[in-house]
Amino acid sequence: MKILAINGSHSGKRGYTHFLIKKIFEGATKAGADCEEITLAKLTINMCKACGVCNTEKHLLKCIYEEKDDVAMIFYKMREADIIVYATPIYVFNMSGLMKIFIDRINSTGNSSDLRLSESGLFFHHISKDIYSKPFVTLICHDNFENEMSKNVVSYFKTFSKLLEAPQVGTIIRRSGKITGQGKSKEKEEQYPKISESYKAIEHAGNELVIKGKISKKTQKIASQDIIPVPFFSILKKFKGFKKKALSKLKM
Ligand SMILES: Cc1cc2nc3c(=O)[nH]c(=O)nc-3n(C[C@H](O)[C@H](O)[C@H](O)COP(=O)(O)O)c2cc1C
Repeated sequence: MKILAINGSHSGKRGYTHFLIKKIFEGATKAGADCEEITLAKLTINMCKACGVCNTEKHLLKCIYEEKDDVAMIFYKMREADIIVYATPIYVFNMSGLMKIFIDRINSTGNSSDLRLSESGLFFHHISKDIYSKPFVTLICHDNFENEMSKNVVSYFKTFSKLLEAPQVGTIIRRSGKITGQGKSKEKEEQYPKISESYKAIEHAGNELVIKGKISKKTQKIASQDIIPVPFFSILKKFKGFKKKALSKLKM
């Protein structure tokens, strides 16, 4: 099995996103998978110009940047992969700009004049199923404690799954990155013991992807859990009064 992770962090291999991808890969490699990470920040990814050339008869499905940047190479690797991991940090309540710029480029691989009914029952158009209609995982990280931060991205990938006919086989959201040292501090791991539990679950998620083809709900829950060492934090954080009290202790 081939797992391809697309890292949308602008920090590339210095970032927390890369650290979390490595955890998935550790578990997947142990189960025999062949894993590769694409670091978008290291590559040349031009922004779709919305020129429409890819939808003209003469240049159908051919992007003007096809031989000028690295997107064709990524599409080639996506074709070869069995599972794709879209990994992005949250930048101002959304996926990274780089990830969105990359995803926008899939527009050139679909014929928008060829209207079709997608498997989800929604109208869409022709798509190149061999590139992105693959089982995929969304891996999200951010600094804040609130679930609200990742809601747009979670919702985005639900739509992605429906219209691009790509089965979503797992979502992992790692909140509170900053207070836990974003995988760079052993001391922080001791201070927040649940973060180690979460990292183990992320590694296990990689294993499950290979063995079962998906990440179990239980593993997703442990991997994405709140790591603040306050009993019932995930319930209590819904209350403003509790938050006011907690604020002084939860410095990022
Ligand atoms: C431009 C920018 C915007 C950010 N916006 C948010 C945000 O809205 N919510 C949040 O919790 N963290 C936000 N962060 C923090 C990152 O999501 C967090 O540090 C993440 O772990 C970075 O991953 P990386 O190290 O792989 O780049 C932002 C960071 C940057 C650089």
